Amino acid sequence: MIVRKTRAELEKMRRSGLLVHKILQTLGKLVQEGISTWDLEVAAVRMMDDAGAKPAFKNYYVAAAGERYRFVLCTSVNDEIVHGMPNPKRILKSGDLVSIDTGVSLEGYFGDSALTVPVGEVSDQVKKLLKVTEESLELAIDKVRDGNRLFDICGTVQEHVESNGFSIVREYVGHGIGTQLHEEPQVPNYVDRRNENPRLREGMVLAIEPMVNAGRPEAKVLKDKWTAVAKDGSYSAHFEHCVAVTADGPWVLTRP
Ligand code: MF3
Ligand code: CO
Repeated sequence: MIVRKTRAELEKMRRSGLLVHKILQTLGKLVQEGISTWDLEVAAVRMMDDAGAKPAFKNYYVAAAGERYRFVLCTSVNDEIVHGMPNPKRILKSGDLVSIDTGVSLEGYFGDSALTVPVGEVSDQVKKLLKVTEESLELAIDKVRDGNRLFDICGTVQEHVESNGFSIVREYVGHGIGTQLHEEPQVPNYVDRRNENPRLREGMVLAIEPMVNAGRPEAKVLKDKWTAVAKDGSYSAHFEHCVAVTADGPWVLTRP
């Protein structure tokens, strides 16, 4: 069942969304050569504490890993797709690409968002990867409208990414969100005709999160049980927003 939220519930999710936005903007500006992904974690913990928010990822149980996640951020560098773990030894250098993914809850309602930022000078191919991935999210956001169907979202991401020569990661997907971090439905970044294709209705909220590889689509998980990387070692980008279906069209909860 896809939970539909009332206006009052959406307003609560809005508060979480705006906090996640503020945290990601601050972290994005901290990113520069010489800082570590652990420095980002420390800054995020402090901002969540200051806001009285609960981190959504820390202690979150993920069946595929068979354990709880230990950090408030996922920081995925270069060929890491998602679930990269903050690490004081992971020092960012020029040419790197770092995805920062985080979530919080306030009064029991969740917000979840991600962005990917270049460190120093990156190659033209990496610039294009960032542009196309972010564009695919924006195009999909515009499809979050009453009466549209889930596949309109999935297909829009897929078409934009693949027509630009990049690959959709299949193993990780977006999701509904509300009083839980992950609710129904799953939101793949490609059309899988074996899945259901529900109609979108007012009050539904989707976390849309394209994960895009510059090379082949296949992912593998490292021995640490968490870090998902592109099997071929190609660069990977990730952007995410939570978007509500409203009478006035898409409402992106995770930005002003
Ligand atoms: N990247 C996932 C998402 O955006 C959440 C991370 S799962 C956790 O939905 F284990 F890190 F919490
Ligand atoms: Co998410």
